Parts: sequence; C-alpha cells; structure tokens
Amino acid sequence: MKVGILVGREVTFPEAIINSLNEAGKGKVEAELVTVGGVRLDEPKKYDVIIDRISHEVPYYRATLKRFALEGTHIINNPFWWSADDKFFNFALASKLGVAIPKTVLLPQHSYIEDINSDSLRNLEFPVDWEGIVEYTGLPAFLKPFDGGGWKNVSKIESLEQLLYEYNQTGELCMTLQEGIDFDQFVRCYCVGQKNVLIMPYDPTKPYLSGEQYVPNPDYLEPKLKKRVEKDVRTICKALGYDLNTVEFAIKDGVPYAIDFMNPAPDAELASVGEYNHRWIVDALTNFIINELPKRKTKPSYRWDAMLNPRPAAPKKTRARKTTAKKTATPKKSRAKKAPSE
Ligand SMILES: Nc1ncnc2c1ncn2[C@@H]1O[C@H](COP(=O)(O)OP(=O)(O)O)[C@@H](O)[C@H]1O
Ligand SMILES: [Mg+2]
Repeated sequence: MKVGILVGREVTFPEAIINSLNEAGKGKVEAELVTVGGVRLDEPKKYDVIIDRISHEVPYYRATLKRFALEGTHIINNPFWWSADDKFFNFALASKLGVAIPKTVLLPQHSYIEDINSDSLRNLEFPVDWEGIVEYTGLPAFLKPFDGGGWKNVSKIESLEQLLYEYNQTGELCMTLQEGIDFDQFVRCYCVGQKNVLIMPYDPTKPYLSGEQYVPNPDYLEPKLKKRVEKDVRTICKALGYDLNTVEFAIKDGVPYAIDFMNPAPDAELASVGEYNHRWIVDALTNFIINELPKRKTKPSYRWDAMLNPRPAAPKKTRARKTTAKKTATPKKSRAKKAPSE
C-alpha cells in the first residue's frame, strides 16, 4: 500500500504519521510526502491513500486530488465533498440530525465582484432586517465566515452598532451570525474513520496555537455528557463523510452546542496540541489507514461514476421477457440466471 501526505507548514504531524505508517506497515506500507508537478490528463495511479492537509488553501492541489480520486486513490478527506461543503449547511444538517446548534443566520454578502451591481441583486431583500436577525440570535453573537478556519474573520458582537461596523469590513466574504454560547466547558474532539473519538478539553480564551489551549484530562466531562458528545461527533462525521475531522462544542447547562465542525485538516502539531493528543491522532490515523480502510466495503461513490462508466441500459423487463420466451429455445435458463440479482 502506498500512502502520500500533502502538507502545509506543519512539521511534526507529517513526520510522525510517515514514520508511524512505515513502522506499523512492516514493509507492506510505504508512506512519503507527495510530489506533484504538471499533472497529465492520463496520469497513472500513484497512491492508494493520500492524506490531504492543505488543498483548502491551494486550488491546484484540490484539482490534483480530484484527478487522483478518479484513479481510485482514497483521499482523506474526500475533495469533492470538501469543495461543496460549507459551515452553514453543516449547522442545518446537524440540527436536523438532533445535534444542538446555536441559532445561526446566513447573511447576504457585504460586497460582490465588480460585474455584480444592484440590477444583478433584485432577489435580495433590502434593507437587511438587522433588528430581526439580532433578535433571533440574541447578543452577544459571533460573526464568522460560512467557510473558513484558523479564527480568521471571527468577531464577537455585543451590539447592533458593532455588528454593522464589523459586517462593513467583511467585503466579499459570505458570513453567518451565530448565537454566542456563554459556555461552562469547551471541548474539541478528534474523530477518525467516522467512529474513533478523542475528547480534548480546550480553553479558547488562551492564545490560538499557543500550546496552552489543550489541557489533557480524561475526566473533564461527566459520563453522560461524554457519551452524548461522542455520539454527536460520530453523527456529524458520518453525515459529512469525513474520515478525519475536529468537532468543537461549547457546553452550557449540560447541553453540548456544536459550533465548528468543518475542520477536515485539523491541527495536530506537537507544540500546539501537546504530546498526548498528537500521539493519539497519529496512532488512530495509522490504524485507520492500515487496518480499517482496506475492510471498508463501499468505496466512496461519486455521482459522476455513472456518467464515466455507464452501465449497459437494462432491458425493458416485461416486454423483453415475453418476446424472449417466445422466440428463444431456452427461456428457463435465462430466468434462472437472472434470479440472484433480482
Ligand atoms: N457560537 C459561539 N459561541 C461561543 N463561542 C464561539 C461561538 N462561535 C465561535 N466562538 C469562539 O470563536 C472561536 C473561533 O470560531 P470558530 O467557529 O471555531 O471558527 P474557526 O473555524 O475559525 O475555528 C471558537 O473557538 C470559540 O472560542
Ligand atoms: Mg474552530
């Protein structure tokens, strides 16, 4: 099995996962950094599995990964779904699946590309009903992009005036406004293979990527809450099909509100997440790739499968059978052959 990893600036996670896969694979697995250049139309298959850590920021990588998927390479995570996905859709989907989600509103963009003017936007209500929106979410609320990460363009809103001020800075970004949860506890959860969950106590008041945010404590959540969080994490990752993800919960009065769960290349650097969490994710991903992925019965199925490789059109059953029965000498045989698939 050949495994490639596509990386950004991170160092310790790629090194650790490559070493771990090579060691655990005992000569049967070869893991390395992916190398790509000008990708040819007829490029043959190079990898069985690719762990993608950066294509969300490098469109050329995303296009390359889609091309590789066509050769049967399993990409962690599915580049097609990741391209289509957004956080607002995810909030709505998770809510339908019974996960607690803070009240959230999708906002019309502040600005648009040059060719869009007021004639192009006749479907938009104007002015936006800011009072109604804030009444729904309550204050404080969080103004954050419908797609994004790394705490970029996220602001805590305390008043209608501040909302308008911050919104006026958001340019062409598509934003959401979300009810702020005044949390008693906060956790980030790794999920691997849509079932293996690690709950990490997390203090978002400490500086981002400082290494001070993660404080390992297996008893941080009381057992009932722990069970619910694990269940919600699996529900979300199964519904979205992510084999590697981080789900964040702000917990208030015993209710875990999922606030961020589109993190398909989650931070796993040693200095940031700490020794325990780093080791856990390296081991869990190694185990998933070597032991669980090969057993998976259903390969990812993309709708374009059918277009690329169309099945022969099914014969029109009723009529075809009657004529066959009349005209051929072996109707019984053909019927017997068909039986198992019916
Ligand atoms: N609804 C919310 N209630 C409370 N805190 C929030 C909420 N949304 C975001 N935050 C705070 O802002 C931080 C960044 O927002 P998040 O939605 O996780 O975006 P990102 O994808 O950039 O990490 C969170 O870690 C949390 O501390
Ligand atoms: Mg987050």
